[in-house]
Amino acid sequence: MSIKLNTHYLDSFIRPHEYERIAPEIRMADEMLRKKTGAGKDFLGWVNLPDDYDKEEFTRIQACAEKIRKTCDVLVVIGIGGSYLGARAVIEYLRSPNYNLLAKDTPNIYFTGNCISADALNEVISLCDGKDVCVNVISKSGTTTEPAVAFRVFRNLLEKKYGKEGARERIFVTTDRARGTLKQFSTDAGYETFVVPDDVGGRFSVLSAVGLLPIAAAGIDICKLMEGAAAASHAYTSADLEKNDCYRYAAIRNLLYRKGKTVEILASYEPFSAMFNEWWKQLYGESEGKDGKGIYPASVIFSTDLHSLGQFVQDGNRILFETVVDIADTKQSFAIPNDPDNIDGLNFLSGMQLDDVKRTAMLGTILAHVDGGVPNVVLEVSERSEFALGELIYFFELACAISGYILSVNPFDQPGVESYKKNMFALLGKPGYESMREELTKRLNFS
Ligand code: PA5
Repeated sequence: MSIKLNTHYLDSFIRPHEYERIAPEIRMADEMLRKKTGAGKDFLGWVNLPDDYDKEEFTRIQACAEKIRKTCDVLVVIGIGGSYLGARAVIEYLRSPNYNLLAKDTPNIYFTGNCISADALNEVISLCDGKDVCVNVISKSGTTTEPAVAFRVFRNLLEKKYGKEGARERIFVTTDRARGTLKQFSTDAGYETFVVPDDVGGRFSVLSAVGLLPIAAAGIDICKLMEGAAAASHAYTSADLEKNDCYRYAAIRNLLYRKGKTVEILASYEPFSAMFNEWWKQLYGESEGKDGKGIYPASVIFSTDLHSLGQFVQDGNRILFETVVDIADTKQSFAIPNDPDNIDGLNFLSGMQLDDVKRTAMLGTILAHVDGGVPNVVLEVSERSEFALGELIYFFELACAISGYILSVNPFDQPGVESYKKNMFALLGKPGYESMREELTKRLNFS
């Protein structure tokens, strides 16, 4: 495995007998998941997805990605939440947060339809000016407002530029197999479509066409990504905490939660992890935050955020625990140069690898935070690669499901997301929401 859970720094926070006490709950959660008896049992398609995926569609994804790479300068990816975070996370993690600025033989990729901002939308439109553009619109429901608005805009743009026929060759749709407005519309328009499997929810869908098409278009080896996820799915099958790092992580989260550690910070020392952290936050936030329960998922990039949030982590309200993702082998090295005059007094670092300085900063920070009363658990990832990232994705998905079952919530629904949508539709005057609009308008005191 490329991933190892290091619990060394937890010793003063969790005693051995506490693991024994939570072990039966873990076994029960495992049974609910494997025997499909738990809440949300119809949304467990992601569990076997790394092996059990549509191979014909996978080949089509690769062919489509190649076509996109050959025919366009820009790929516009339209989607929100689970329909874009995974792809963006993987592209930034494996290629770069500055992917679009790199010299490369793959298209620039702009994500849009993930907010309601005229400035953001106009910016992407102007970035496409004079470029050959393809679009991948991703929406499981096919009705989400943010991507639907962006798709309306980009469809018109492409049709104006290439004509209806030409646009058809450049629009790729990832949506439900049979249901929804987008599916119906795509069939009528003759767009090539890819499927969000029925039994895979948005935030668990990065290893389906939802994530794989944009990821492959960015030149990333999606076979290796799937192989890594498959390796993880085979490795984390034991219900025995001693033998399963993934379940142990789920147990640790819940043990700490019960001690009042209600906020988990995912900490990485690599800026390329920032979007991965966002993907992780959605996974845990939407899966666990319900029924008045849940660990609030936060994230930091160190050492950057040691200079903004470090004070709070060290010394503020003691509700935090930290999960450090320690990526051992990144792609490039950098040795700190010598300065014969030693004006800055830094020659004690001369010749040292920046990675070694980073590791020392990490170890020093972990010890300081532990001393400050912040439990630290470390996830050691051996390398920055497709395979290891596939493992990491699966590790967090599985741990999230087990952790959610221990919390006694349904990890696979998101009823809370509907509340804002209903209010927004009512206030915008969508047909069918008239009485609600009246009531909300009174509360807001405007007409
Ligand atoms: O994880 C989820 O289910 C959500 O975040 C959805 O992905 C998000 O709301 C977008 O939904 P849809 O793909 O239906 O447009």
